[in-house]
Amino acid sequence: MSITPVPRVGVVVVAAGSGTRLGAGAPKAFVGIDAHTILRHALVRVLAAPAAQVVVVAPPDRQGDALSDALAVAGDRRDLVSVVAGGATRQASVAAGLAALWADVELVLVHDAARALTPPEVFERVVTSLEAGAVGAVPVLPVIDTVKRVAGSEILAAVDRSELAAAQTPQGFRRDVLDAAYAVATEEYTDDAALVAAAGHAVAAVPGHPLAFKITTAADLDRARHLLAASTAPAAPAPAAPHAMPRVGLGTDVHGYGGDGPLWLAGLEWPGEQALSGHSDGDAVAHAVVDALLGAAGLGDIGTHFGTDHPEYAGAHAHAFLARTHALVGEAGWRIGNVSVQVQANRPRFAARREEAERVLSQALGGAPVSISATTTDGLGFSGRGEGVAAFAVALVVPA
Ligand code: CTP
Ligand code: MG
Repeated sequence: MSITPVPRVGVVVVAAGSGTRLGAGAPKAFVGIDAHTILRHALVRVLAAPAAQVVVVAPPDRQGDALSDALAVAGDRRDLVSVVAGGATRQASVAAGLAALWADVELVLVHDAARALTPPEVFERVVTSLEAGAVGAVPVLPVIDTVKRVAGSEILAAVDRSELAAAQTPQGFRRDVLDAAYAVATEEYTDDAALVAAAGHAVAAVPGHPLAFKITTAADLDRARHLLAASTAPAAPAPAAPHAMPRVGLGTDVHGYGGDGPLWLAGLEWPGEQALSGHSDGDAVAHAVVDALLGAAGLGDIGTHFGTDHPEYAGAHAHAFLARTHALVGEAGWRIGNVSVQVQANRPRFAARREEAERVLSQALGGAPVSISATTTDGLGFSGRGEGVAAFAVALVVPA
């Protein structure tokens, strides 16, 4: 049993709508995309983030179903999830969710369950913006189509597209600001950002993601189905019988220095250190761990699940890779025993941040123990010459 600290971040996942436009005969969040509901897919991505309180807002007669989905996804973080009944409008549902947040929560993300495929990195971006001081932060995408102002069937004028952006969720706010804005709201707003703006606060825009689209119509649901089928096709079929023996796996990775921006290694940002180059952030430690785990579980390798045909991982950091790997390993009937990884590099110096890195990687793997050792190579080889970083990982998985 892991001991979960009281989180600073709360996520209200609104799933209490009826799904009139989808017309699937059930409340939208409880419609299946594949074997799993829209809500469950949304929660998998919500819970891929570092520990946050998660409040699911469900139709009053669907609270039990919502709790089943939430508990299935939460695993050993079940104490972080809860379900409350929603209201007649989205705004009323958000208010019900806000009322269920713990006193310690300081930053709130409000997320539509209907944006089921929103990648974890969008949550990270919103939280990062709030942590940097924004009162509110909203993911947006540029508007691609030419936009016209119309009256009936008549086009009145073109609207300057460069001034427009399409808002997505999760929309994040300082909790005190959002609570206060909800307390005084007397009319219905299109979204939480509009409600907070009406209360007089500036809201920041952060980059959204195409996968954060909202499932509104049957065509949107089809799109989600195709995207999921494409991303899971190469995975090994679920085992027919429970696994009998533990298994080990080995993973190695090498990245050369020369990337843009800051160095990301072992799930940490290293200010002032030279960046590594590669697809995603070049985090050789995380990639070696992913290969070790996938190998142990017999699920192929990092290219199978995170290659260039998965553009959602292009700029991703360790957390996104490891959380997805954790889920894949779990779905294949395995639990992670432990992971041990060795870094060979002249820089960065791990001693001062080793425990922090272990904690971050372990958290992304659902609390499984991760140990990191670091060594130099006496000036020999490419790492000794300071050209790059090598990482070697072994992982143990045990039958779940
Ligand atoms: N929502 C909610 N409570 C409501 C209305 C909406 O929690 N009373 C949630 C929905 O479950 C959804 C999100 O708000 O996750 C965005 O709303 P929308 O896409 O409009 O969903 P529905 O209202 O369910 O769909 P429709 O408008 O087609 O009925
Ligand atoms: Mg609606």
